Amino acid sequence: MKIHVVGGCGRVHALVWKLLQSMQVTALYCAPGNAGIAGEKLLNGDAVVCFPVGPADVEKQLVLAKEQKPDLVICSEEDPLGLGIVDRFQAGGFRIWGQNQRAAKFECSKAWSQWFCEQYGVPCAMGESFRSEADVLAFARRLRWQCVLKADGLALGKGAFVCHTEQEVRDAISVIRKLGPAGELIVVQELLQGRETSLHFFCDGRTAQLMPSSVDHKSIGEAGVGPNTGGMGTVSPDPHLTSEEYLDIAKAIMTPWLIGCKKEGIDFRGVLYPGVMLTAQGPKVLEFNARFGDSEAQTHLVRLETDLVEIIQASIDGNLCNLDITWKPGSSVCVVLASKGYPGDSSKEKGRMISGLNTLTQYPNLKPFHAGTTLREGNVVVNGGRVLGLTTWAETLEEARLTAYRAANEIRFGNERPIFRCDIGGPILNLR
Ligand code: AMP
Ligand code: GLY
Repeated sequence: MKIHVVGGCGRVHALVWKLLQSMQVTALYCAPGNAGIAGEKLLNGDAVVCFPVGPADVEKQLVLAKEQKPDLVICSEEDPLGLGIVDRFQAGGFRIWGQNQRAAKFECSKAWSQWFCEQYGVPCAMGESFRSEADVLAFARRLRWQCVLKADGLALGKGAFVCHTEQEVRDAISVIRKLGPAGELIVVQELLQGRETSLHFFCDGRTAQLMPSSVDHKSIGEAGVGPNTGGMGTVSPDPHLTSEEYLDIAKAIMTPWLIGCKKEGIDFRGVLYPGVMLTAQGPKVLEFNARFGDSEAQTHLVRLETDLVEIIQASIDGNLCNLDITWKPGSSVCVVLASKGYPGDSSKEKGRMISGLNTLTQYPNLKPFHAGTTLREGNVVVNGGRVLGLTTWAETLEEARLTAYRAANEIRFGNERPIFRCDIGGPILNLR
């Protein structure tokens, strides 16, 4: 089977790495990929090929597919899904895994998602959406400025602002407005208190199969300090939840979600990833994503035992209930290594040579997934804010953490140590 994978971030490297373990895969290419993906090999020894086509360039992705004639196309990135890549590829006669444009609305419109939750009783933060600045301010005032402002549309994880004062609300409005069409509609939610956890499901249009729990660490600094990032690391399972608690949370969200999808005629095939706040009043959905989390994907896929191609085929065909999906016991950790300046402007760091990757082969059960990397004259260099996701798995969380941090200390970007958080999966309960 020949596979076309759309994307080039850390979660896409993890997807490619897992796909390559399937006996069914005889050829795989990725667009655009990254230096790590380009270094991967198939079981038959063939190399993965990367093509310089951006994930959101749906038309060029389609031209590439018409040339390459894949048997299966895989997309787990929000931008192309929101642009309707699945509908376009299906119209072109391709078999593609991912949500159609209507199903991707769960991630692409926070206002619609909020409406869906309220309509079908999915527990969520109370909120309303407004177009006018005056209406945003009036509603935020009613919440005593303790609120979260969110751009309705996609904003590369930079569209949500936690506010406590009128000035913060005004500042958030002006930043959201600069996002263009994504920020024309603004969702204002009550500010929930609690801690966050991530849920992931494989969906097939009718049912949902729960993956293990995980916790992302969103702020740049330890213990929730500093601005939000795309995610600085993940631990799976969530060390602070029992399996029973996790199942209860999943049921509270998914029972009404599945009923709502059926009533609305939404054919959701792919991964659903609800970000959830565990509050004193129970779990509440903060956002729905129509894809794997990054870096949750990395921690999940290193523990997945079942052939990913089989899961994807069953998800497309509506057969997930006939599949027994199994996971390695124990824990996994992903520590993200970022370049200086991230989550702000880190463009000056581009081109720095990454050293230490070769020494990582000495560590058992460790996989360095690449995100913002590229090849220059045969060397792996920095090409983005989040650069590597060092992912480890072990019987115990402590063992997995130890290996991840030993490995992190081996890596340099140029002569400098990368930026990373030291408390991923640590004993201090992360708040963000
Ligand atoms: P989102 O993009 O909607 O997931 O928001 C990004 C981050 O903002 C979340 O991971 C939370 O840390 C925070 N956040 C979002 N919505 C809320 C809320 N209603 N209450 C408290 N924190 C929130
Ligand atoms: N883990 C955060 C995200 O993928 O949006």
